Amino acid sequence: MFRKKPRLLVVEDDEASCFAYERFLVNAGFEAKMSMTLAEASRIVEAESFDAVILDLRLPDGNSLQWLPRLKKIHPHTPVIVITGMNDIPTAVQATKNGAENFLTKPIEMPELRATLNKCLELEILRKRQMIQQRLAKIEEPFFGLSESMTNLMEYAHVAADNDSVILLLGETGVGKGVLARWIHNNSQRKSEAFVELNCSSLKGELLRSELFGHVKGSFTSAIRDREGLIEVADGGTLFLDEIGDMDAEVQAQLLKTIEEKSFRRIGENLLRKSDFRLICATNRDLLKETEDRRFRKDLYYRICVFPISIPALQKRVEDIPGLAEHLLSGFGYTEFPLGADVITLLKSYPWPGNVRELRNMLERALLLAHGNPLSTRYFPGLEPISSSPALPDYQDLSTLADIENAHIANMLKKFEGDKLKTSKALGISLSSLYRKIHHLK
Ligand SMILES: Nc1ncnc2c1ncn2[C@@H]1O[C@H](COP(=O)(O)OP(=O)(O)O)[C@@H](O)[C@H]1O
Ligand SMILES: [Mg+2]
Repeated sequence: MFRKKPRLLVVEDDEASCFAYERFLVNAGFEAKMSMTLAEASRIVEAESFDAVILDLRLPDGNSLQWLPRLKKIHPHTPVIVITGMNDIPTAVQATKNGAENFLTKPIEMPELRATLNKCLELEILRKRQMIQQRLAKIEEPFFGLSESMTNLMEYAHVAADNDSVILLLGETGVGKGVLARWIHNNSQRKSEAFVELNCSSLKGELLRSELFGHVKGSFTSAIRDREGLIEVADGGTLFLDEIGDMDAEVQAQLLKTIEEKSFRRIGENLLRKSDFRLICATNRDLLKETEDRRFRKDLYYRICVFPISIPALQKRVEDIPGLAEHLLSGFGYTEFPLGADVITLLKSYPWPGNVRELRNMLERALLLAHGNPLSTRYFPGLEPISSSPALPDYQDLSTLADIENAHIANMLKKFEGDKLKTSKALGISLSSLYRKIHHLK
């Protein structure tokens, strides 16, 4: 469904041949761009990429044999078919040495050209697929957790993967928005195409615009050559805009237009280009509030908020912590499972303001400190379990003994989660005394 028409560049100076090629190739389901000189072809390949190049050997402004290595330097994987004169075998051999995949001799039989093209394209698809497979094999399946909130969330994530609409991932930093974005891509129909990620908080103004939309040479001071933007790179695949809440207002307007029209212009260029990308956005901000404060465009907000998925903070799904910890530890090569009950209790009692990212970092540090020994609580310095060390009241603000006693009782009750028997034992008084004191408290 998302396979694009193969794009070809034909470099040929004879007008009649050009016409014949173009008609045949377009009819055969290719998209063809024609160039009649090497100079023009050079300019084109600097700015655009092609699935294959058909190259005539003799051109008015130079020898294609010498141009080939330059083309291969810019696009090492683009297959080239060289067209040579009759009986010009030595030149054809030289062309293959210079990087051409194939050569055909004149007069060109169109069916033969098509067969050669298809062979080249299939090989290239195989190469790409193999590369992606290798990359995918390296990416471990993430573990999202089995808590009720995460089970529900994964149902949404499956719907997101099966569809092609804009997704907005919400949640505190480190909850795994980036991990989920990649999971959605890897489980979507676009998985064999590119996953392109851009963090909108790291670039501002012109640089962000140029990164997204690309630019032509000279359109601003540092634009020293034509460059494609990430929107173009994501054609056929997924564009992940992280921290979209940090995007400049001006870029927001252009992005909205691009999403609506599925087309865009490079900076400094009039040509309207098309890109078929799937958009996933993420933010740790309250975007609706940002729109009220006029920091984020309302129209863009409603355009990207089609399918919001909110990932809960780790503290809100404490039951996922043991599973996540084991998953992350296995990723680091640790094998001593199950983890000790005291380690689990410690991990579960810490509030994890940095969420899964912080958990991963703490586990990595603990492994370094443990030097290969099984993990124990002492390898987690700084993880203060909050529930077992409740904040003491600020006694300086309390003047009478009764006030201090009352505050202490309230604190201990909180610590034992309202269990009066445990509280009375810890306070060294009888249960009935505790009840009496509580009665006074009210
Ligand atoms: N579900 C998960 N499974 C495995 N690792 C995770 C998971 N979620 C988060 N992480 C870890 O936490 C790090 C931060 O996740 P990330 O997706 O960048 O968070 P966010 O984008 O929400 O700030 C990741 O690099 C990864 O190591
Ligand atoms: Mg992130």
